[in-house]
Amino acid sequence: MGDTNATLNAKGDTHDFEIKSGTLGPDVVDIRKLYANTGMFTYDPGFTSTASCDSALTYIDGEEGVLLHRGYPIGQLAEHSSFMEVAHLLLNGDLPSAEELDDFTYTITRHTMLHDQLRQFYQGFRRDAHPMAIMCGAVGALSAFYHDSTDISDPEHRKISSHRLIAKMPTIAAMAYKYAIGQPFMQPDNSLSYTGNFLRMTFGVPAEEYEVNPVVERALDRIFILHADHEQNASTSTVRLAGSSGANPFACIAAGIACLWGPAHGGANEAALNMLHEIGTPDKIPEYIARAKNKDDPFRLMGFGHRVYKNYDPRATVMQKTVREVFESLNVSDPVFEVALQLEEMALNDDYFVEKKLFPNVDFYSGVILSAIGFPTTMFTALFALARTVGWVAQWNEMISDPAQRIGRPRQLYTGPAQRDYVPVDKR
Ligand code: ACO
Repeated sequence: MGDTNATLNAKGDTHDFEIKSGTLGPDVVDIRKLYANTGMFTYDPGFTSTASCDSALTYIDGEEGVLLHRGYPIGQLAEHSSFMEVAHLLLNGDLPSAEELDDFTYTITRHTMLHDQLRQFYQGFRRDAHPMAIMCGAVGALSAFYHDSTDISDPEHRKISSHRLIAKMPTIAAMAYKYAIGQPFMQPDNSLSYTGNFLRMTFGVPAEEYEVNPVVERALDRIFILHADHEQNASTSTVRLAGSSGANPFACIAAGIACLWGPAHGGANEAALNMLHEIGTPDKIPEYIARAKNKDDPFRLMGFGHRVYKNYDPRATVMQKTVREVFESLNVSDPVFEVALQLEEMALNDDYFVEKKLFPNVDFYSGVILSAIGFPTTMFTALFALARTVGWVAQWNEMISDPAQRIGRPRQLYTGPAQRDYVPVDKR
C-alpha cells in the first residue's frame, strides 16, 4: 500500500502525503499528519471527498452501478442467497458452509425473544407514535436489559450483543406495528425463517394459524438483503461515530436508527410512495417532473438520485423485478406501480435528470412492494432499520476490532465572532 506521495504547496512550504490504495476504488491521500505538519485542516462538509476509515465489508462504484458485499455482487446475493447467509457474510467475512449457516441461524433464532419487561416499555408510547420513534427508544433500552453483553473490549460480549441486535430487531419492529393497531403482541415462532417469523409476528394473530406466503417471504427476504449494508452512509457513519467513544452497541444502533429516520436517507421509501400516491395517475406525471426541475420549488422526485450512484442503483433493478413477482402471487394490481414505471421512463428521457445523473434508487420501488404486502408506509423505514442492523453491527465490530481506532472528532472552519468582552445586560 502507498508507493507514491501527494505534494501540497501551501503558504510557501511543500508537504508530502502518502497515497494509499485499497483493493478497489479511488486511492486516498493520507492526511492524518496535515494539521501537525501545516497547522491547517481540510474542509469537506458532507464528506464528499473524505474516506473516514478502512473497511473490508462493502464496495460501491457509483459511476458503474456496482455494489459488492465482501466481493460478491448484490445481484447474485439477491438472486441466490438468503438474508441469514448475507448476515453471516457481512459479520464473518465469508459465505457460510451449510453447517455454519445452520449454526448461525440457530443462534439468531434463539435470541428472538425480548425481555418480558420490555413489553411494558411499549405501553408508555402513544398509540399513534411513529414506529421509528418506538424503535429508537426500544433499541436504546436494550442496553438497560442486556448488561451482560455491553463490555465492548470483550469479543464474546461483542458477538452476543451483535446476535441479539440482529435477532431482536424483527420482534421490536413487529411489536411497534402491533402496538399501533391495538393487536396483541405475537411471540416469535422459532420453527420459521427469520423473515417468515417477522411476517407472522406482524400479520398473524393469536386466534388463528398464520401461513407464510413463500413468494412474499422471499420478496421481503430479498428486500432485507438489498438493505443490509451500504458502506459509510449517514446512518452507518453515525453508528461508527457513536461507537468511537466506546458507547455500547445498543446505544450505537439506536443512534443509527435516529439518523436513518430522515427523509433524505431511510425515510425516502415512505416519501416515494406518498409521492406516487399524490401523483395518482400517469397524466399528472409531467406536472411533477416540471416541479422537480423548478429551482424555486423545493419539491424533489423522491426515490430519485443518490449521493454515490450516478448510474442505475443495482438494487433498484432487483426491486423492479420483485414488484412483479409479488403482484402476481398476491393477485393484486396497484395503479401506483404503473405511475412509477411511467415516471421512471419519462425522467430517464428528460435532459435534467440525464445531465445530473439522477436515476431511481432502491427506495423508488421498495415502497410499492411493501405496501402490496400490507405494511403501512410508517413501517417502511422500520423495515429498513431492521435490515440495516446487520450492516451497522458488522461495521461497528470492524471498527472496534481495528487497533488504529480512535474517537471520531471532526474539526471546523470557525466563522463566528472573534473574542469579545462580556457586556452586562443593562448595557446591551
Ligand atoms: N429530484 C430533482 N432534482 C434532484 C434530485 C431529485 N430527486 N436529487 C438531486 N437533484 C438535483 C439537485 O437539485 C441538484 O441540482 P443543482 O446542481 O442544480 O443544484 C443536483 O441534482 C445535485 O443534488 P444534491 O442534493 O447536491 O445531491 P446529493 O448527493 O447531496 O443528494 C440525495 C443525494 C439526498 C439522495 C438527493 O438526490 C435527494 O434528495 N433525492 C431524493 C431523496 C431520496 O430518494 N433519498 C434516498 C437516498 S437512497 C437511501 O438513502 C437508501
